[in-house]
Amino acid sequence: MTQSHPRITKAVIPAAGLGTRFLPATKATPKEMLPVVDKPAIQYVVEEAVTAGLDDVLMVTGRNKRPLEDHFDRNYELESALEKKGDGERLAKVQESSDLATMHYVRQGDPRGLGHAVLCAAPHVGREPFAVLLGDDLIDPRDPLLQRMIDVQEGYGGSVVALMEVAPEQIHLYGCAAVEGTGDSDVVKVTGLVEKPEAAEAPSNYAIIGRYVLDPHIFDILRTTEPGRGGEIQLTDALQQLAEDEEVGGPVHGVVFKGRRYDTGDRGDYLRAIVRLACEREDLGPDFRAWLQRYVAEEMQRS
Ligand code: G1P
Repeated sequence: MTQSHPRITKAVIPAAGLGTRFLPATKATPKEMLPVVDKPAIQYVVEEAVTAGLDDVLMVTGRNKRPLEDHFDRNYELESALEKKGDGERLAKVQESSDLATMHYVRQGDPRGLGHAVLCAAPHVGREPFAVLLGDDLIDPRDPLLQRMIDVQEGYGGSVVALMEVAPEQIHLYGCAAVEGTGDSDVVKVTGLVEKPEAAEAPSNYAIIGRYVLDPHIFDILRTTEPGRGGEIQLTDALQQLAEDEEVGGPVHGVVFKGRRYDTGDRGDYLRAIVRLACEREDLGPDFRAWLQRYVAEEMQRS
């Protein structure tokens, strides 16, 4: 089969945020390193990229983010200590993250918003379509989204965003898309985008969740995108331009996701993600579920 599009191999993960919602835990530790059960949140995101065939990963980091680089690097001291003890199981866990992908890092320096973070990836990405995965959004590995988005990008061209229907009172937390149907039941054409609108002004209840497959023309647009909401250079604003002017790197489509997504940037959702994923783990799940049932029963009696 002749391929008309270059195969997508690069993933960009913006990780320069300050994580203020998790202070004091994030005073000296990047929020991306907070554990979800026993793995840092960021490892789930890198694993997701790799599962979708993207094994060239660029992290856009900032100050205080050294632990991220260390996590995806070898740790010879720890490895040899575990080897000496004959603890193969834990050794495998330590080596897993350094064997995952080819990791690259670039510093954002002056964090001026998500659009600016993506623009920092331009020299590494070049002129190929690429994926962006936001670390705060955790997509359950059983509900593959990124692979579907890549397929849709290969079919329709242009850029693809992940969309999820949310309650109207939630839309002000997200980028919001005006959409039209297509021949594919899970694909919509995006006709307009607005970053974090008030419910009354929102064109729909389709929220952008943190997965994008982008045409490289986005870089040309980001170079001249003015600061938008919150005084930041918004990726949503640059995508709006792509959606508006299809001649330049458009169109923009959305894959409507109906699977399980956890917002690990929100403390409540973060706790729910841990409980759900712990319940489903083969090693921890049976004991944890039994305890949880007892705990909930006791709580119900008390109230
Ligand atoms: C960013 C984007 C927003 C998107 C959201 C998804 O916002 O700007 O359009 O809906 O991620 O998580 P943030 O949550 O970083 O403020």
